[in-house]
Amino acid sequence: MSHNDRLPVRRSRFDDARPRRRRSHFDDDVENIDDRSVTRGRRPQPAPLPAPLDDVPVTGDRWSTWDIAQHGPAPYPKWLVTDLAAVDAELGVVKTGKEADVHLVQRAVPGTSQSCLLAAKRYRAAEHRLFHRDAAYLEGRRVRRSRETRAMARRTAFGRDLLAGQWATAEFTALSRLWRLGAPVPYPVQLHGTELLLEYLDEPDGQAAPRLAQLRPAPARLCELWDQLIDALMILIDEGLAHGDLSPFNLLVHRGRLMLIDLPQVVDLVANPQGHAFLARDIQIVTDWFTGHGLPAQIANAGLSRLQIIRDWPPVP
Ligand SMILES: Nc1ncnc2c1ncn2[C@@H]1O[C@H](COP(=O)(O)OP(=O)(O)OP(=O)(O)O)[C@@H](O)[C@H]1O
Ligand SMILES: [Mg+2]
Repeated sequence: MSHNDRLPVRRSRFDDARPRRRRSHFDDDVENIDDRSVTRGRRPQPAPLPAPLDDVPVTGDRWSTWDIAQHGPAPYPKWLVTDLAAVDAELGVVKTGKEADVHLVQRAVPGTSQSCLLAAKRYRAAEHRLFHRDAAYLEGRRVRRSRETRAMARRTAFGRDLLAGQWATAEFTALSRLWRLGAPVPYPVQLHGTELLLEYLDEPDGQAAPRLAQLRPAPARLCELWDQLIDALMILIDEGLAHGDLSPFNLLVHRGRLMLIDLPQVVDLVANPQGHAFLARDIQIVTDWFTGHGLPAQIANAGLSRLQIIRDWPPVP
């Protein structure tokens, strides 16, 4: 028996009506005993042990959480592993941030070639987090129950946990909406509590795609990226949205393509009274970066004029 044959098989909860119990590798051993081995005098295999109480797979760090999470938009991308037998392995930290940490996770089906890399964005709970963005961004967002609104406003531990979940949900919802519109965002794989799993945007060498802020693009490349940014902003504005925290740190360059990330605070231009102020600030910050890195004013202005919603946008001198 090869090593892979001994890996546990995770069964779908729909396999049968019996209470759910994951099989241990001993189960496989027992089922695979060749009856003739007994008559040939080989020693019988040991009796199966009870399933372990802590239900962790033999390889990896946890079972795939796909079956208990909210899924991203269908159709699911071909590269995504959705098999219930998959396990998640933690490969390291991509970046720790003020409000969330991003980890690299591999989701794979043991013994097969099915495997994909995911960015796990985990929002911090309660006191480990400092949400500078809560107040202004929550304007115009509806929270139904007043007890929850009060808890969030007072920043009680309960309120802060609610906010962590709310931000994760808000980012997942925004990414799902933008993905469906064809905006350049990582595919939102799933949401489970305060953890968001995203398509991992990587370089051919496996490193995370660089932030725009880290790059010094050559003039022609800079113009291309600027055009891509204007295209992306047009999709958002047409949808009545502003990013709300746009900066060269929240733009990744993934194999030549500019990608928007970090969207929990996406702003509704109609419902949020400060919506247009957020949009103007977003545009100012990225325009300053591009012109500061050599984008000619004429090209900057040609791009800005495409964003017709901001009719009185001051031209770059
Ligand atoms: N899908 C992804 N693929 C690859 N890298 C990613 C992905 N999402 C995020 N990252 C990396 O993790 C960093 C932090 O992500 P993000 O900006 O969404 O979180 P954050 O908590 O707001 O962080 P910060 O406080 O630094 O802005 C990004 O700058 C990027 O380097
Ligand atoms: Mg960020």
